[in-house]
Formats: sequence, structure tokens, C-alpha cells
Amino acid sequence: MTNTIPVRAAVFTGPNEPLDIKTLQLPAEPGDGEVLVQMVASGVCHSDLHALDGEWDTPAPLVLGHEGAGVVQRVGRGVDNVQPGDHVILSWTPSCGRCEYCAAGRPVLCEVANETAYRHVLADGKTRLRDGETPVKSFLGAGTFADHAMVPSTAVVKVREDAPLAQAALVGCAVTTGIGAVINTARMEAGSTVLVVGCGGVGLNVVQGARLAGARQIIVADVSEEKLELGRKFGATDTVNSKERDLVQAVRDITGGPGVDYAFEAIGLPRTIEQAYEAIRRGGTAVVVGQVADGVKISIDPFVMSDQEKKLIGSNYGSSRQVIDFPRILDLYMEGKVDLDSMITNRIDLDQVNESFDEMRVGNGIRSVIEY
Ligand SMILES: NC(=O)c1ccc[n+]([C@@H]2O[C@H](COP(=O)([O-])OP(=O)(O)OC[C@H]3O[C@@H](n4cnc5c(N)ncnc54)[C@H](O)[C@@H]3O)[C@@H](O)[C@H]2O)c1
Ligand SMILES: [Zn+2]
Ligand SMILES: [Zn+2]
Repeated sequence: MTNTIPVRAAVFTGPNEPLDIKTLQLPAEPGDGEVLVQMVASGVCHSDLHALDGEWDTPAPLVLGHEGAGVVQRVGRGVDNVQPGDHVILSWTPSCGRCEYCAAGRPVLCEVANETAYRHVLADGKTRLRDGETPVKSFLGAGTFADHAMVPSTAVVKVREDAPLAQAALVGCAVTTGIGAVINTARMEAGSTVLVVGCGGVGLNVVQGARLAGARQIIVADVSEEKLELGRKFGATDTVNSKERDLVQAVRDITGGPGVDYAFEAIGLPRTIEQAYEAIRRGGTAVVVGQVADGVKISIDPFVMSDQEKKLIGSNYGSSRQVIDFPRILDLYMEGKVDLDSMITNRIDLDQVNESFDEMRVGNGIRSVIEY
């Protein structure tokens, strides 16, 4: 029997059930190629809520959470990218570096991550967490709603130690997803006009990315006035309350007729994805960042698509190369060029995680961050 350590975790037991806060067991020694991370902070992302609300087929029991940062406690044999004491951000796409996609510089599409983390297990198809005899999976291989995580070494990126880990945690999902969608996925040209639909944790980072990349006009849309104000704070030039105005018409009016060069949907609803597509100008690009519930479909006019050379593309994890993008974004934060402080609107204990989902459902605040 191997030695275990107790782990305080928020466990998903099935759709629409509150997360069960309990103590699990984890092996004290990481296996080959594995890293034991003492978690310091985890953001609460809407993707966790999709799982919790049963919108995505998610196995139970499972430790939810995927946006986290911490300190390396122990490393297994063969791990040479980090050592105990290193500050790390967790990646929920632990890319192998060797498959065709990784070799092509597109690690978010990694075949290995697709078979492991996206199935909430490690390389051997198993999980290390236990609740007594029962194996407990970790959401996207990360399971950051726990004070410790056992992850493959490919899931940790070492970052500077003078950066606060609560802010760093957000770089593990929302910030990289949002900024990356503009810079990596869309490769937006400076001087472009932009629409961002949804001003949550992800959408506000699309706004920051568009500002960084030199957009000349950034229109934000949301149904909450509070979120629209935050959009302005992060760099939006115009706002549309899409509960009060027809979004597509409003965007045409604001741009003087044509629509925007780039539109980013950061909610995950079919109608808002269609609106983002309809709001782009001839030759424009709409980027799907928000993730819909399983099975949802959209409707677009393919004649318009060809006639007007419109592009509709998807963005996973901001098309990031985490080893490059995590440290780079953190540098931008430390230099005052990216605002992560204002993103944290609620600092909570693990015990309050269920309440943080209630806040997210009604659209309150940007990010709740659990601190261990
Ligand atoms: N592509 C990726 O790799 C990736 C990564 C992380 C998250 N996501 C997805 O991005 C989406 C957003 O995540 P988040 O954490 O920012 O969510 P969030 O809950 O923080 O933000 C959603 C925002 O959308 C607004 N909204 C809701 N309905 C609306 C409507 N009909 N019209 C306009 N605004 C509306 C809300 O007021 C809120 O401000 C989710 O679907 C999440 O799963 C995708
Ligand atoms: Zn996320
Ligand atoms: Zn790979």
C-alpha cells in the first residue's frame, strides 16, 4: 500500500447536484513523468458550470476546476521541466510535443491530450485520486478545485515567482483563451474593428487582446449593464445592451454600415454565435470562443458565406502554445499592460464554490478565485 496524502476537494457527483466538499486521498509520490502540485488558487470558469449543469457529458465522481496555479511539491522520475518549489500554471491541454499537431505548432489540438486530459484521466487511462476505494477523475486532467493535483509534467508551465498566483491562475484559462483568440487564432491586424459578444471572464480578455493588438474600435455586447461598464474599463469603445437593442443592427449603425472586421462570441449560445457571424462585414471573420451545450447546432446562410467571403472559425484555448503564452501574458501583466487584478471580483474558500456558481448563473462579477 503506497503512502497517501489527504486532499480537500470539490467533487462533481452528477448533473445539477451541488459539488460535494470532502477529503480524498492522493499518492504521496508522483509516478514517472508526473508532478504533485500544491494548489494555491483556482478560478471558477463557465466551462466548469457547463459540466455542473449537465450541458456536457461529464463522468462522476470527478474533481471539477481547470484554471489554476500552485507550487510544485514533488516530481516523479524523468521530470525535468520543473522542480519542487517552482511556481506553475496548470494547462488543461497537456500537449505531448511529438504528435503531428504539436509538431505543427498547434498543441491545443494534441492527440495525446485529446485521449487523456479531455477524458479527465492521465496517460495510463487512470486517475490518481481516490475516495476510499473509488477512483475520482480530474476535470480536463487538472481538477483544480482541490488543494493538491497530480498531473503529467506536460500540464505544468513554470512561471516567474514574483507574480501573484491568484492572478496567475486566471492565465490558465480565461486570459489565455481570450487574448489568444485575437492574437493567435484570428491573427487580427492592427486597426481592425471588433465585436465581442459576452463580457465575462473570457470575453473581457478578448477585449484586452483586441486592445493589445491595436484594434481601432471595440464594440462589446452583453445583457448586463454592469458587464458593459467593465467592457469599457478593459478597453471597449462602444457598448450594446443586446437585451434592449438588436445586436446586428446596432453593430451596423456603430460601424457606419458595414459591420466589423472581427467578431468573437464568448458566451456559448447558438443565437449569439449567429449574431457574431451576421455582424461581420464582407470578408470578415467570426470566431467561436464560447462553448455550447452538447448537441447544439447553429444556422447560417452559406450563400452569404461564399458571396461575401465570410469566415467562421473556432478557437480552442486561444490557439495557445502554453509554454510561450503563459509566461508572456504574465510579463504583460507585471508590466501593467494586461489587467488581471480587476478580473478577480471574489476571493473565496473552497467551501464557497457552490455559491460562486450561483453568482455566475445570474452573471454577477467576473471571476471568483478559490484560495487554498
Ligand atoms: N474556447 C475555449 O477554449 C474556451 C475556454 C474557456 C471558456 N470557454 C467558454 O467561453 C464561454 C464564456 O466563459 P466565461 O467564463 O467568460 O463565462 P461567464 O459566465 O463569465 O460570462 C458570460 C457572459 O455572457 C453574458 N451573456 C449571457 N447571455 C447573454 C446573451 N444572450 N447575450 C449577451 N450576453 C450574454 C453574461 O452576462 C456574462 O457576462 C463559456 O461557454 C465557456 O465554456 C471556452
Ligand atoms: Zn475555462
Ligand atoms: Zn501532441
